[in-house]
This record gives sequence, C-alpha cells and structure tokens, in this order.
Amino acid sequence: MVTRAEAGAAVAGAAVVALLSAALALYGPPLDAVLERAFSLYKAHSIKDMENTLQLVRNIIPPLSSTKHKGQDGRIGIVGGCQEYTGAPYFAAISALKVGADLSHVFCASTAAPVIKAYSPELIVHPVLDSPGAVHEVEKWLPRLHALVVGPGLGRDDALLKNVKGILEASKARDIPVVIDADGLWLVAQQPALIQGYRKAVLTPNHMEFSRLYDAVLRGPVDSDDRHGSLLRLSQALGNVTVVQKGERDILSDGQQVLVCSQEGSSRRCGGQGDLLSGSLGVLVHWALLAGPEKTNGSSPLLVAAFGACSLTRQCNHQAFQKHGRSTTTSDMIAEVGTAFSKLFET
Ligand SMILES: *[C@@H]1O[C@H](CO)[C@@H](O)[C@H](O)[C@H]1NC(C)=O
Ligand SMILES: *[C@@H]1O[C@H](CO)[C@@H](O)[C@H](O)[C@H]1NC(C)=O
Repeated sequence: MVTRAEAGAAVAGAAVVALLSAALALYGPPLDAVLERAFSLYKAHSIKDMENTLQLVRNIIPPLSSTKHKGQDGRIGIVGGCQEYTGAPYFAAISALKVGADLSHVFCASTAAPVIKAYSPELIVHPVLDSPGAVHEVEKWLPRLHALVVGPGLGRDDALLKNVKGILEASKARDIPVVIDADGLWLVAQQPALIQGYRKAVLTPNHMEFSRLYDAVLRGPVDSDDRHGSLLRLSQALGNVTVVQKGERDILSDGQQVLVCSQEGSSRRCGGQGDLLSGSLGVLVHWALLAGPEKTNGSSPLLVAAFGACSLTRQCNHQAFQKHGRSTTTSDMIAEVGTAFSKLFET
C-alpha cells in the first residue's frame, strides 16, 4: 500500500530531482543517481526495520510440540460483552484461539453469555460480569490465566465498569499482563491511575481513544503534526506503559522506542478488526513474556508482541480484501489468521 504521505513524498522527491537535474543539467546524470540512491536507501532501510522486527516476533513464538500439555501455549481471558455488544468479545476470544492459545475464556454480563456461547462451542463463557461478586468470580480464575484482554464489547454501564476496575486491580496484584481496548480505555481515561506504572499493560487506542487518553493524562490536545512525539509522551506519562495507536499505519511505543507497522493491509476498515488485534495480542504478550528479553534483542517483549499483532491483523485484512473486496468483514479476516500467521512468522 502506498500511503498518501508516501505518495506525496515521492512526488515531492521526484520534483526535487527534476528541478535539480534541470538546474544542474551540466552535471548530468550523477546527481540524479545520487538522489535516487538516497531515496531508495531510505525505503530499503524502513523495510529492513520491519523485517528485523518481524524476526524478533518469530523468536518469541513457541514451537508446536506434542509433548506439551493443554494450556501451556496460553489461557487467555476476555473481559467484556454486555446486552448490546456480543460480537466484540467473541471476535477477540476466537482470534486468541486461532493464533494459538489453548483456551479462551470470556467473562461477560449474564445477558450476553448465551449469545456468545451460541456463536461458538470453542469458548468458555462465564456470565459473571454484572453480578455483585464479579471481582471474586474472575479472581478465582486468575491463577489459571496467562493474560487478560479488557474492554471488547464492555459498554459503559457504571456497575460493569466498577467490577472491571476491581478485576484490573486484582490482575495487577497477580502480575498478570493486560491488554486494554475499547471501553476499557474509556475507563482508563476516567482513572489513569488504574494503569499508571503497570508495565505489563498494553493499551490499543484508535485515533479517538488516543486523543481522549492523551487529554486525560497530559491535560492538553494531541499535537497532530507530531504523532511519534505525542505517542512517546503519553507512554512516558503513563510510566512507560506500552501504547499502540491504531491507524493508517500503527505506531507503537514503550516510552523508549517508537515502532511503525506499515504491513500492507487494505483500504477496507470494518468494525471488529480491533478485536482481532486485541485477542491475538493477548496471546503474543504471553509468549513474549515467556520468551524474555534475550529473545527480543534488547527491545521490550511487549513492544515486539504488539508489533506482531499489528502485522498479523493487517495481513489478515490484506488477504481477506483480496478475496472479498468491499464486502470484507471481520469474520473474513479471522478466517485468514492461519495462513497470515504462517506467511509472516513461519517462513
Ligand atoms: C539487534 O540489535 C542490534 C544492535 O541494536 C542491531 O544491530 C541488530 O540489527 C538487531 N537485530 C535484529 C534482528 O533486530
Ligand atoms: C521511561 O523511559 C524513559 C526513556 O528511557 C526514561 O527516561 C524514564 O525514566 C522511564 N520512566 C519510568 C517511570 O521508568
């Protein structure tokens, strides 16, 4: 995909080359050659960065092995799902399974549970999120879970959010990694202290959610001319929590590095794509922490996991779009997880 910015840069670059070569026609081709080489070097450099980071993702993926027991490759919990929203937690949970988790649990409101169960016999669904004992009910499962994804289809009901706050606190106390998306981010924007300084959290805001968080934490508007700087500032203000800003290109930071994921996707954005990202990220975060920093060449394991999940989501989008074009939906993307994963990470 050639983005508008790239196309613009290419046009501007070509114009510079043309002008300079016209002005310095006497000096002829060498100048052209020098400039062209500079442009292609720049491009090759960013492709090389992408490839290097993909290699780090490959390093954290545990090999399939018949000697492992069920659950070793990941037991993931999704916290979300209410009367209005049942698709998002389903998409996140099934994506975690398709990426390679052994078990996927959904902790949702009681009205959502029968619906989510009916979508799939492969998920374990707990109708507890709106019960007075919700925190305790989820806490019982925490020792058996490797990562939580908080927010898909959560909604903004006060009672649910209060329970989710308790679940986040219990997860932090047990040092369980959490991926926070959607209305989970709304909760964090109301109470940033919930996540401040928790280095096992990854936030995955879209444009709107990013602005809201930024305003809540840094008390000012985002500088739209400086996406990288804004991201870095937000991550640092949260105590170097990993933040993934989803967009035309995804940009990711752990407060130290900023990575850009521009894996080719498509022009089609469908609701639910973010749930594929958060669900697969839940698994990758677990794998990355298991592998440890020696496998990620000095980069933060969570940052590498996030890069992997962004690349995978975009590759699924690309493949689904090749087949379905404008009618591409999230279910089509999820059907591509297996082949997209092999293409990116098992070559
Ligand atoms: C590992 O880190 C070194 C030093 O920063 C760098 O030169 C090298 O390209 C990195 N390797 C990968 C696979 O990212
Ligand atoms: C976050 O990372 C930056 C850059 O490395 C560092 O200066 C800062 O002290 C870190 N903050 C925390 C809370 O660790």
